[in-house]
Formats: sequence, structure tokens, C-alpha cells
Amino acid sequence: MQTSWVITIDGPAGAGKSTIARMLAERLGAVFLDTGAMYRALTAAAMDKGVDLEDVESLLKVFETTSFQFEHDGQVLRVLVDGQDYTQRIRSPEVTEKVRYAARPPAVRSRLVQMQQDFARRFPKVVTEGRDQGTVVFPQAKWKFFLDADVLERARRRQKDLAQSGRYVSLEELKEQIENRDASDRTRSVGPLTAAADAVVLDTTSLTAQEVVEKILQIVGSGDGGS
Ligand code: DC
Repeated sequence: MQTSWVITIDGPAGAGKSTIARMLAERLGAVFLDTGAMYRALTAAAMDKGVDLEDVESLLKVFETTSFQFEHDGQVLRVLVDGQDYTQRIRSPEVTEKVRYAARPPAVRSRLVQMQQDFARRFPKVVTEGRDQGTVVFPQAKWKFFLDADVLERARRRQKDLAQSGRYVSLEELKEQIENRDASDRTRSVGPLTAAADAVVLDTTSLTAQEVVEKILQIVGSGDGGS
């Protein structure tokens, strides 16, 4: 059984998905689901347990030996790993660098897809964001969006986010990291980054987050009438 009221927001790193999904959820009285946080939580748990991330069997065992909890907390997805708060930890550069190992193997993805569907079932209205939400996880969602933006603009946004936490990384370096992550996200065999055939594609390069949210609201209206 699937949650009937779902808006999916997919797109590459830095396209503004989390900001937009968060704002949209707030406007529509829905719960925000950040699915990247689940890939990150598995990665962080595996790293902290000394698991070889390149070994799929060992990675799968982490699901058996670890308790993962994802709690809706305002517009944040609070992440608990074995009861410990990992909400900050999963954003660290080490986890960001290693998360591709959790995102690639089909068997690992299918466990995380299950977790995403289980999470959504707990709430009447969900705005979810990721790479495969409209294509794989919620194919029956009534509204699907795919956000994209120029790679340089995405690097600038990332630079601004990092600056807020006191870190400076050059635009060149960020652009390269984003390009690498895009290539890895687009080329995997299962759940690759791609727009669903029935998704509305929005280029956010020259739009503010507020403008993107308004465009989406024009399409979904008050959000009533999910499938
Ligand atoms: O959105 P993010 O940066 O937190 O995502 C972290 C990684 O997880 C990203 O490199 C791709 C992967 N991911 C995925 O494969 N499928 C999703 N639905 C969400 C994230």
C-alpha cells in the first residue's frame, strides 16, 4: 500500500531540492522526507562500525546490526543510528565523499526504498526529495517535479551553504565534486538520476527558491485531490 498524497522532487546535487521540498511541505502542511539522509545514515553507520563500504554483503549486514530511526521534527528529518543523534554527522564531508558506495548496489537501494515507503505510510501528506522518487519509489505520485540547474550555479549554492558553516571550498573544486557525483548518480543501473516521464522539469538556475515554490504551488494548487 502506498501513501496516496505524495509530491516527488528529484534532481541532481545543488539543484535546490531540499530547500524547495522543505518550504513546500511547510506551505502544504505535509511532512518533508529527505531520502539522501537515509543513504547518508547507512554510510555513516557503516563507517563508524569499520565496515568495508565496497563490500556489498558487509554493507547489507549493517541493516541487521543497526537500528535506524527517521523522525519528522519540524522541517528536519532527525536521524537516529542505534539511538544516537546522527542528524549532523551525516552531513560531514567524509560521509558525503563515501555515500556513493551506499547509493550504487541494487540490494542496498531496495532496502532503502523500503524504508522510504514505510516512512511515507506513517503520514497523510508527504513531500519527498531524492534522485528516484518519481521513477522508482513513488511511481503513482500525483505530482512529480525534476529540478535542474547549471552546474556552476549549483557549485555556487553549495559554496554559500558551506560558508555558512565556516568552510571555504573553491568553486572549481565544488564544480568537480558535483560533476563526479552527477556522473555516478546518472550512470548507476538501478534508480539512476533521471526525470520520470510524467515529471514537470524546472530549471532553477535563475530562480530564487521562493519563485520555484510559487511555480510548483501554481501546478499543485492547494494540494487537494491526490491520487
Ligand atoms: O541529496 P544528498 O546529497 O543528501 O544525497 C546523498 C547521496 O545519496 C547522493 O549522492 C545520491 C544518493 N541518493 C540516491 O541515490 N537516491 C536518493 N533517492 C537520494 C540520494
